[in-house]
Amino acid sequence: MVENSLSPASITNNLDTHFIGQRVIYYPRLTSTMDVAKREAQQGAVEGTIVIADEQTAGKGRLKRTWLSPKASIALSIILYPSVVYLPSLIMLASLAVAHSIEAVTGLKSQVKWPNDVLINGRKVCGILIESGVRGNIVDYAIIGIGVNVNLKLSGFPEILPTATSLSDELGRDVSRLSLIRQLLVEIERLYLTLQTGGSIFEEWRDRLVMLGKRIRLKSGKTIYEGIAESVASDGSLLLRQSDGSLTKIVAGDATLGD
Ligand code: BTN
Repeated sequence: MVENSLSPASITNNLDTHFIGQRVIYYPRLTSTMDVAKREAQQGAVEGTIVIADEQTAGKGRLKRTWLSPKASIALSIILYPSVVYLPSLIMLASLAVAHSIEAVTGLKSQVKWPNDVLINGRKVCGILIESGVRGNIVDYAIIGIGVNVNLKLSGFPEILPTATSLSDELGRDVSRLSLIRQLLVEIERLYLTLQTGGSIFEEWRDRLVMLGKRIRLKSGKTIYEGIAESVASDGSLLLRQSDGSLTKIVAGDATLGD
């Protein structure tokens, strides 16, 4: 059965994690899970606390965009207190965890678009936003925000239809948000512990990236770059080979395939 709404108990009941998702703060409707998660983190919420909403009214995307977050989607934020050395790996961790979970629950194969969109058949199914509070080398908190288009009928959202998809549109049937959330929490904990025990997730993330070796157009701040997406560095930045032969390291931006 595909559930209509989520509840903390349905998420935590026999959840196979030690700390991720063991405390759930749930809202039927909320502006943004990022804001509540930030407040909770600043008040010292236990690591792994998640804030989840059935529906967001002011969902936040990367680069100050808005994120459409109606009831049929997943909107959650996870509170972590990582060491500063793991901070750049959180984008890799989150996109890989989403890709693994989608595959485990639906069988659908997905790819990662630098830096951290998850795509199915070239269209965005998930967006990830990382916010952190950092003072020098001290990370006060890091919040991973994950939005997944689960049972959205994209035909009802013409503004994102050309570039977005949903799991139900790909599969032709609805998907249990609860199963996907529970799987996601298990995957996030597994990858987070991999990092903390000296393992690497960089190679798998790099190998899932869709644009490497291709000509791209990249907007970073007010600058537009064009070139070949040659590789990525272990801190997650993109190495772009431009037509004059130079290699530019780009930390954040928005990439599209060039001609
Ligand atoms: C993007 O692709 O621009 C990132 C989108 C991130 C959306 C998620 S939904 C849960 C969390 N709460 C928000 O307001 N944003 C993130």
